[in-house]
Amino acid sequence: MNEMDRADVVVIGAGVVGLAIAYEAARRGHSVLVLERDRIGAGAAGVAAGMLAPASEADCEDPALISLALESCRLYPGWVASIEADSGMRCRYRTEGSLLVALHHDHLEELERLAAFQQGRGLDVRWLTAAAIQAREPGLSPRVIGGLFAEGDRQIDPRFYMPAMAAAIRAHGGEILAGASVTSIVQSAGRATGVCFTLAGDDREVRGTVIVVAAGAWSNGPLAGVLPPLPLRPVKGQILRLRPGPPLRHVIRTADVYLVSREDGELVVGATSEERGFDSRPTAGPVMDLLREAWRVLPLIYELELAELGVGLRPALRDGLPIIGPSPLDGLWLAAGHYRHGIMLAPVTARLLLDAMDSGDIPPLLAPFQLDRFTQNTTQGVPVP
Ligand code: GLY
Repeated sequence: MNEMDRADVVVIGAGVVGLAIAYEAARRGHSVLVLERDRIGAGAAGVAAGMLAPASEADCEDPALISLALESCRLYPGWVASIEADSGMRCRYRTEGSLLVALHHDHLEELERLAAFQQGRGLDVRWLTAAAIQAREPGLSPRVIGGLFAEGDRQIDPRFYMPAMAAAIRAHGGEILAGASVTSIVQSAGRATGVCFTLAGDDREVRGTVIVVAAGAWSNGPLAGVLPPLPLRPVKGQILRLRPGPPLRHVIRTADVYLVSREDGELVVGATSEERGFDSRPTAGPVMDLLREAWRVLPLIYELELAELGVGLRPALRDGLPIIGPSPLDGLWLAAGHYRHGIMLAPVTARLLLDAMDSGDIPPLLAPFQLDRFTQNTTQGVPVP
């Protein structure tokens, strides 16, 4: 193998955020190396449904996060076009919007709260009657009593998007090493200057002008000995793939489940949200709950083949918001804690992080997502887990 021994930008992690940063850096003419401990998309993104839904993610209510998500969704069409042109591959980006449906009074109240919040932010959501919903999606249960249409929501298929992004990075001369397990970040004269890692049993080192840690729920591993641990934890999501899925035109959501139809006839049913640490074993109970909620909204799933049960670990920081910016160690940058929103936030994370690196200034949209929000109330500069 003839991998690089130095790069302008070394990215640790080939999830959606790491790849997006590597792509943006490579597109701007920087030499790029991505180190991935497992395989491309082995973390949360590889199983994700790929919803780009700032108007629908019910827990996406922090105003700064909404602004970041809206900017990312604004970037998405051009971002996808550029990746598709550079890779010659499709990302399967779709624009039909989401239906947020209510099956009972509690769902309706939740939607009313969401609608008031989203309309207050000028987001494009409108109420539909049960009959209007049935006209749009005839397979839905007659128990649907009404809902919201979020016309601006989009979706992308991560199983096409991730390989396309990897190919686009390589097309710009970037390199991605899978199975490269980081052992330490090298420091010299008070700055990060490289990364030590093992690959196929060999110890290696790459020098980097800039090191970016974007390793999802595993981001504290490479930071050991360099920074105090981030207040980061994995949040387990179990997600199902059923076949042959009905050709739903929209993403369908209730407060309890989402259903995403794929071009190739698969129906993605997601996702649980569980506090289980790094335990990623599939389990019967949460999957039973998920299937029951899916069946309530789309009864015909009862007959479908259960093609896959996937488990992802979402990287959540204590406040549910990401860190996107520099660390206290010169040359070391962080893009971590994207929680439920890695796919949605990937373009804006990459674009603004590279803007910050290239200019030395933190763009205003990124100001709320800096590490110092965890450290400024402590005397030692140590994040409080
Ligand atoms: N963004 C959807 C999820 O994390 O389940």
